[in-house]
Amino acid sequence: MFDKPFSQACENNKQSILDVLNRVLSDKKNLLEIGSGTGQHAAYFAPRLTHLEWHTSDMSDKHLGIAAWLEDVEVDNLHQPLSFTIGAISVIGNSAWPLANVDAVYTANTTHIMQPSEAQLMMQLVADNLLDGGVFCQYGPYNFQGQYTSESNRAFDQHLSEQGCGGIRDIDELTLWAKPLALIETVPMPANNFMLIWQKE
Ligand SMILES: C[S@@+](CC[C@H](N)C(=O)[O-])C[C@H]1O[C@@H](n2cnc3c(N)ncnc32)[C@H](O)[C@@H]1O
Repeated sequence: MFDKPFSQACENNKQSILDVLNRVLSDKKNLLEIGSGTGQHAAYFAPRLTHLEWHTSDMSDKHLGIAAWLEDVEVDNLHQPLSFTIGAISVIGNSAWPLANVDAVYTANTTHIMQPSEAQLMMQLVADNLLDGGVFCQYGPYNFQGQYTSESNRAFDQHLSEQGCGGIRDIDELTLWAKPLALIETVPMPANNFMLIWQKE
């Protein structure tokens, strides 16, 4: 029997994230989630944001777990995982964007897992492919002007580096990489995280 993957962090942060998404995505219709992970966030958010289509995505080794979470949710606006690996070479170009007419992108806890080049590419791909007026909601830990926001984030970054992950990115470098997206809000979240809200003008 296949055990659904489980993330305690997702359980802890899902309501505070939903509170932001409810406000920011009220007029959005078609959302791509990058790095859906276990699928828990999508399974919680989609039934509570029924005015939009929620498209999950991740590397293909995550798809079975995401599908298992989706199976338990009986809503029409939640979609099976798309294969999307930022930085992977595909037959139709580098990291081919997997979905058309996207007016919202959501990603949680992916930016610090990716290598810096992948994080940069993610910002560029979102900027290139988001519809005008669209928003990008990017949740996770970030640095401000080269400074950690907490000692626990400093320790976490050390741990990420030991694991071979890219590490916590600075908001200043994300801002450069994201152009022409504009950072319109930096929302403080529990546990030293932030929700960055980017908009394509
Ligand atoms: C720490 S998990 C976060 C999962 C989920 N969003 C959450 O908040 O629990 C990081 C996710 O990013 C995905 N990921 C890492 N590198 C990626 C890349 N280059 N392209 C797309 N997804 C990537 C991983 O497969 C994993 O699901």
